[in-house]
Amino acid sequence: MYKDICILDEKDKMLHKKCNEATFPLSDEDIKLIDGAIDYLRKSQDEELAEKLGLRAGMGLAFPQMGKLKRIFVISYKREDDTFLEYVIINPHIISYSSEMIYVEEGEGCLSVNRQVEGIVPRHARITVGFYDINGDYHEERVREEIAVAFQHEIDHLDGILFTDRIDAKNPFKGVDILRSI
Ligand code: CO
Repeated sequence: MYKDICILDEKDKMLHKKCNEATFPLSDEDIKLIDGAIDYLRKSQDEELAEKLGLRAGMGLAFPQMGKLKRIFVISYKREDDTFLEYVIINPHIISYSSEMIYVEEGEGCLSVNRQVEGIVPRHARITVGFYDINGDYHEERVREEIAVAFQHEIDHLDGILFTDRIDAKNPFKGVDILRSI
């Protein structure tokens, strides 16, 4: 728990449910949660602050992880030059995706999964996403590589799917020889 942000663990039923579309205007509570999540993610990627506050590093948070079954997520991605690439994504849908598949070599992580998980999570290398912003305006954007992985990971959360569900249970490293690692 940090400020008002309480992140649910994978065992919680909430994380395995499909979320409902958000409606506009967003409520004050939604906006507070969005701001809180971005603040959390930024601080969690600052080593000193994270240690002081006891935060695990993360770059994405979806509403169901904070106990709200709404189709909203935020991404805060710290670039090499220490600036942040940030998104607030509402009611997203994937318009198209590359046939090329990739996986994150060091494995995906999730603020709701508090254990070491081995295995490969196949993701599309590039996706085009349609979504609404915080003001209710519609956008379409093509994202690639780690941002595409982050979007797919967070969109999955809105459908009650965790990255651990996407790892082949019998053969966790299935595809290691054919998929590109990033
Ligand atoms: Co996650």
